Amino acid sequence: MTLSADLDLSQIPFWGLPQAERMEAFRRLRALEHPVFVREQYVPFVGGGPGYYALVRHADVAEASRNAAVFSSEPCANSIPDMPRWLSAYFGSMINMDDPRHARLRRIVSRAFTPRILSKMEEDLARAAAEIVDEAIAEGPGDFVTQVAARLPVRVICDMMGIPAKYHDMVLRRTNIILGNADPEYTGLAPDFSRLNVARGLVQLLRAGFSLNRLAARLGDERRKRPTGDLVSLLVNGDERLTSQELGSFFILLVVAGSETTRNAIAYGLKLLTDHPEQRELLLSDFDGRVVGACDEIVRYATPVIQFRRTLTRDHEMNGTAYKKGDKVLLFYNSANRDESVFTDPDAFDITRDPNPHVGFGGPGPHYCLGAHLARREMTVMYRELFTRLPDIRSVGEPDFLLSNFINGVKHLRYTF
Ligand code: HEM
Repeated sequence: MTLSADLDLSQIPFWGLPQAERMEAFRRLRALEHPVFVREQYVPFVGGGPGYYALVRHADVAEASRNAAVFSSEPCANSIPDMPRWLSAYFGSMINMDDPRHARLRRIVSRAFTPRILSKMEEDLARAAAEIVDEAIAEGPGDFVTQVAARLPVRVICDMMGIPAKYHDMVLRRTNIILGNADPEYTGLAPDFSRLNVARGLVQLLRAGFSLNRLAARLGDERRKRPTGDLVSLLVNGDERLTSQELGSFFILLVVAGSETTRNAIAYGLKLLTDHPEQRELLLSDFDGRVVGACDEIVRYATPVIQFRRTLTRDHEMNGTAYKKGDKVLLFYNSANRDESVFTDPDAFDITRDPNPHVGFGGPGPHYCLGAHLARREMTVMYRELFTRLPDIRSVGEPDFLLSNFINGVKHLRYTF
């Protein structure tokens, strides 16, 4: 079937349409009997693949996530065109790997995300949020994303890894480029999407990755010689350990996956709680009892990560559609999270939604978000700090969105208090 222009997900301008129009396009795609096949765009240096099936229903996204033996994350889950294997490991670490390679890395790095480690971080998290709000108060109302939302996640991850504070801004600039390499604000390129500009954007992405990798690898070398008990020391020493290269790639994955997502969730949360004063009242009337539900509803409603990819390892039929070995499928979490067959009144923002089986942190399966609990904690401490100290805080106007078919990003959001 050929897609009409307003449903053509492969066109960059589609992702610049207003959210409501895009959600309407996905509603129409969900109503079709089978997933549509979308042709791929040519990408300089990489070429153009045949295309992909768009999985837009909750049942398809959940099953493809669960059945990793058939729906593989190799050669890459975070890129529509195939990347060479080394580049895919470099920029995606375990997110682009299947078991047993994935399981080995996940086992090692999971040590950093145990409930014990996370509860030890609680005080640091609260202190970081308080300092960020102190600074925001001193600066006065302005841009909620750059003054508040973007600051916490990058600081938390850098602190976990032992990256000194003087590098935090540099790390944030690099992650902005890695995930915003189609957006003229981050690349500084003209918004014409010519092949030359796409190529320039890719060069910037590579350079940003190399620079983050070098930073982490240097720290790894130091901790190997003199362990200090921090996360990097834990990851590079002991019986099972990461190599320098693995550490650098894992760091890129962590800062990108952790900071470019959570900051959007925090920002959308303020916007949603401003637009829905009755939900905000509900939350504030029992903050501790409702905040986890609120965080999950924000992640469902906003879906900070739009999609990840899988590739078929063999011919397979799923929910009435036949796929061939080598076919690519994209798991559209944004669409699955509005699936009317799973969520009652899916376009309503309801922090008391229960159950809320959203797939904003990925579907059930081996790649389910490693940082989901940490993300909820970051959102919780930030909202607690903001709503306690600035009870009349609210967003103003519409967000300035990132142009991306991967991250549902908020670049700027004006706010006042
Ligand atoms: C609201 C915030 C977040 C959202 C929406 C989000 C979303 C996701 C999604 C959709 C996946 C699944 C990928 C797949 O199935 O291929 C994922 C995986 C992952 N996330 Fe998150 N994430 C968030 C926060 C974080 C944080 C704070 C961290 C770490 C500090 C993190 C680290 C990871 C890692 C390491 C993986 C890969 C897991 C694996 O391959 O086994 N994420 N995330």
